[in-house]
Amino acid sequence: MHVAVIGTGYVGLVTGACLAHLGHSVICVDNNPAKIEGLQRGRLPIYEPGLEELVRRGSASGQLRFTTDLRSGIENSQVIFIAVGTPALPSGDPDLRYVEAVAREIGQHLDEQYRVIVNKSTVPIGSGDWVRMIILDGAAEAAKQRFNSSGESHLEELRQAGNPETVTGQGSVATLQGSRWMPHFDVVSNPEFLREGSAIHDTFNPDRIVVGSDSERAIEIMQQLYEPILSRQGGLSGDPVPWVVTDLASAEMIKYAANAFLATKISFINEIANICERTGADVTQVADGIGLDKRIGRAFLNAGLGWGGSCFPKDVAALIQTAADYGYEARLLRATVEVNQEQRQRLVEKLQQALKVLKGKTIGLLGLTFKPNTDDMRDAPSLSLIEHLHKLGAKVKAYDPVVSGSGIREGLAHVVVETDVLRLAQDCDALVLVTEWQEFQTLDYGRLAGLMRRPLLIDGRNCLDRQALRQVGMTVLGVGW
Ligand code: NAD
Ligand code: UGA
Repeated sequence: MHVAVIGTGYVGLVTGACLAHLGHSVICVDNNPAKIEGLQRGRLPIYEPGLEELVRRGSASGQLRFTTDLRSGIENSQVIFIAVGTPALPSGDPDLRYVEAVAREIGQHLDEQYRVIVNKSTVPIGSGDWVRMIILDGAAEAAKQRFNSSGESHLEELRQAGNPETVTGQGSVATLQGSRWMPHFDVVSNPEFLREGSAIHDTFNPDRIVVGSDSERAIEIMQQLYEPILSRQGGLSGDPVPWVVTDLASAEMIKYAANAFLATKISFINEIANICERTGADVTQVADGIGLDKRIGRAFLNAGLGWGGSCFPKDVAALIQTAADYGYEARLLRATVEVNQEQRQRLVEKLQQALKVLKGKTIGLLGLTFKPNTDDMRDAPSLSLIEHLHKLGAKVKAYDPVVSGSGIREGLAHVVVETDVLRLAQDCDALVLVTEWQEFQTLDYGRLAGLMRRPLLIDGRNCLDRQALRQVGMTVLGVGW
């Protein structure tokens, strides 16, 4: 199948590379020329395990191509994915300007061929219909321009190109200059559930694939597109993947509800952790104990510094905002956010309790990214810690397996980024494990303790072996024990 993916970020690039691997002919479009030029040369704009190899193979076979030209990108594509960013505005609402720009541009370049236009970006409930409207507006603008420049004859061409089945008389194009021509497409919602750091595994092995649409034709095309994943073809193993068909609004809501539930689960265990600290229980044992209950499950019950990243914060905020727009106060979700914000603050309080005055102290952060195996710093808990500690007069240093060696320095003005962990530990009054990178499991903590001014380590992710650390002379604190 011929597929265009617009936006080559964490979602778009992974989706494009995986679909190409499954045998589809994929063209990835981005309006950032540096990104596309890099991709054409095999240079990836993001760090995601396994992606470089997948892109290299896709490019070599010709199944995966890259362009900045949306028009040529969508020319022969039956399915067009919109996978651009939807970051949060200060109000909490998602910023839909990138989706809007792409939808308009798609509309401007549609021809008589039928297309399925897929909202893969996380967009608020009702966006499917809105995207449809913007596409029609784009098509109307383009038709108008053509009409003005080439006269009545072109309008006649458009009329002739129009497929009579699709003429509803409702859309902007249909009313334009009395023309009965409309572009021929359906918009479907196909929310993405991949996690950064395991994005390729998640794409090939999803728990479900959700498609929201009221068009049987569009649903059938989407099912054909995903057939290799659904029925485990092309080297994929395991059980068939559930195929979930819903209306547009429900698919959009499934995405927000899933992220809001997971964020709430983490805030819940962090709240339990805070009670554990006061009562002498150990949240790790509690999580194991409740996680064995199949109705609860152990996943996403790791207490720590709380959730960050490009999606939980903005998606929970957006759902709260949507609820408010409809006159409902989402109290549970507000509490979820509040607990999460305070969790970062609590770590600073732990440092204050241990070191008293932080002014003039040196704190070393192990990890900067919002989770391991990514270079993504969006809403990373490390950024709040850095700002807070800096305000309190501490000197902050950090080492991160990916960020240290990369050019990423956005938001890092108040931290000295070290290139190795020994330099990080040198003269520190405390180390804080912020991101549970695998390499932090095997560090020589005895050696690090010897380099520090005080051998204090706060394990902000409860991922290290406390006993082993104590044996090598480190004082260890954690979250919820
Ligand atoms: P991103 O910021 O990494 O990438 C977006 C890309 O879109 C960028 O490369 C940008 O240059 C490009 N772009 C913007 N405007 C464009 C235009 N007019 N034409 C062509 N390209 C354009 O974003 P992301 O993290 O991949 O997220 C994309 C969407 O997927 C968001 O709505 C997000 O909520 C959702 N999502 C993300 C994840 C994730 O793990 N990051 C997971 C599930 C869903
Ligand atoms: C999350 C969801 O898991 C994906 O399903 C979804 O597609 C994605 O958001 C999205 O919409 O973008 P992601 O943000 O990549 O994926 O990473 P997660 O593994 O979910 O972690 C999110 C945050 O929660 C991280 O900061 C992580 O450290 C924190 N977390 C996670 C905990 O604090 N405790 C846990 O038990 C699990």
